[in-house]
Amino acid sequence: MPTILITGGSRGIGKALVEFYKRDGWYVIATCRDPDAAQDVLADEILPLEVTSEDSILALHTAIDGRPLDILWNNAGVYLDKATDLSGTGFEAWSETFAVNSIAPLRLSVAFVENVAASDHKTIAFTSSRMGSIGDLRGSANGYAYRSSKAALNMAGAMLANDLKPRGVKTVMLHPGWVQTDMGGASADITADVSAHGMKQVVDGLTDAQSGAFLNYDGKSWPW
Ligand SMILES: NC(=O)c1ccc[n+]([C@@H]2O[C@H](COP(=O)([O-])OP(=O)(O)OC[C@H]3O[C@@H](n4cnc5c(N)ncnc54)[C@H](OP(=O)(O)O)[C@@H]3O)[C@@H](O)[C@H]2O)c1
Repeated sequence: MPTILITGGSRGIGKALVEFYKRDGWYVIATCRDPDAAQDVLADEILPLEVTSEDSILALHTAIDGRPLDILWNNAGVYLDKATDLSGTGFEAWSETFAVNSIAPLRLSVAFVENVAASDHKTIAFTSSRMGSIGDLRGSANGYAYRSSKAALNMAGAMLANDLKPRGVKTVMLHPGWVQTDMGGASADITADVSAHGMKQVVDGLTDAQSGAFLNYDGKSWPW
């Protein structure tokens, strides 16, 4: 039975990913900050993880205990400056945004690279955002930190694809769509189910040639 580890599995897109992988017969490990508050999540295991804490990553690594991870899905994210333009975004919000959205996914990838390399699917997925596309700057002028953090994530994920190619490990950066979650809001375009179903299909069909790509939830490419 293949195994997937999904960060930010407590709600929104992560929770929907948990459900689709469970339905497909996978062993699903979800993480969030407070597993007691996520009892409705249908994962096989719900483990605590504060993604910005090295100690918390180490504790998760110990709990996983060398088990192969077919997919490591770095999904947890924050959008702290959604309603804030450049003038209002200070060091604290920039730092937290980069810690959660850009640095943590890479620290987790480094921590679990051996587990992924030891699996059959050998895939590291990142929930990115089209807001990180420099080639398509449509949208509001708010969110300098968020948009920059996803651009940084894309760079690191693309570098990781190069680095891990000799080990057969693929990476992919995915735009989930504008999704009805706590982050996306009720008036967003699509449900978390539509997003998660689409992204799962993209990841299921991911080829070696696509490793390091920045793709929409329906498989289309995004400009960097
Ligand atoms: N919704 C959209 O329209 C949209 C569009 C583009 C990209 N995205 C991306 O999609 C991903 C999921 O977003 P969502 O819409 O599902 O958001 P959400 O409903 O706000 O859920 C965010 C998830 O991230 C986790 N998380 C946040 N900070 C964390 C931290 N410091 N440590 C551990 N976990 C943390 C949360 O866990 P807790 O329960 O522990 O807080 C929660 O599970 C994010 O990377 C986001 O940037 C979303």
